Amino acid sequence: MMSFTADWLALREPADAAARDGDLLARAARLCAGEAAPVIVDLGCGTGATVRALGPLVPQDACWRLVDNDNRLLVAACAAAGERAEPYCRDLADIEALPLAGAHLVTASALLDLVSGGWLARLVGRLARAGTGFYAALSYDGLMEWMPPDPEDGEVIAAFNAHQATDKGLGPALGPAAGGAAAESFAAAGYTVETRRSPWRLEDGAGALRAELAAGVGRAAGEMGHAGAGDWVRRRRAGDAATRCIVGHLDMLATMPALHREAA
Ligand SMILES: C[S@@+](CC[C@H](N)C(=O)[O-])C[C@H]1O[C@@H](n2cnc3c(N)ncnc32)[C@H](O)[C@@H]1O
Repeated sequence: MMSFTADWLALREPADAAARDGDLLARAARLCAGEAAPVIVDLGCGTGATVRALGPLVPQDACWRLVDNDNRLLVAACAAAGERAEPYCRDLADIEALPLAGAHLVTASALLDLVSGGWLARLVGRLARAGTGFYAALSYDGLMEWMPPDPEDGEVIAAFNAHQATDKGLGPALGPAAGGAAAESFAAAGYTVETRRSPWRLEDGAGALRAELAAGVGRAAGEMGHAGAGDWVRRRRAGDAATRCIVGHLDMLATMPALHREAA
């Protein structure tokens, strides 16, 4: 099982906020418009990044059901969501136990690349039964570009991407294939699906995030047996003043057309 620290989530949040597609975010929020106390379920909420991104766009009396298996992160997320937050310290593996009943919108960010195809299929099945809309931001798509280039970039990134597809606690992870697989699964279940690219563009001012990212990429590549990963990290970190980095992500909004929703 993977664990995510509050420090890492805080470091990445400004880059995530800048990268999220604003149009899909606003349209996700509109699924709650006109509802009294709409219910939003955030899966793998971490410290509440989705609450901070979406919260200002939804009715103030929205009730957030926040789901994570890390209680320390969950406490921080509840503080972000205010009085109407409901914490669910749960393993996402048990889809039938997730508190999705009556939800107007289900959200996830930086989560889908951790899940397996089987988990995704079960989630889609459960959401489709009720016609619930789903907004998933910032699924890593496998594209990573460092500038200036290093001769080892290609191999290190390939090893990192292979690591992304190992089991993160929910079955063999979809990793870089997650965004496309989610779009296909929701469309096959009758949803209208839109996707937008939401890359991180880590330039001036993002040195600390680039350094941690390089360390994480190198660690994962090393675990996959790439012998030069440690040296790659040292070169990347030593030359950071001149380094830029782009990391590809996909945002997705899946909505059930009203006709299907009424029939569900
Ligand atoms: C990459 S973090 C993203 C957190 C947050 N959504 C954000 O965008 O900052 C993934 C989150 O999913 C949670 N998570 C991963 N696997 C989980 C599982 N099997 N059950 C419950 N939560 C899980 C982690 O604890 C972490 O908070």
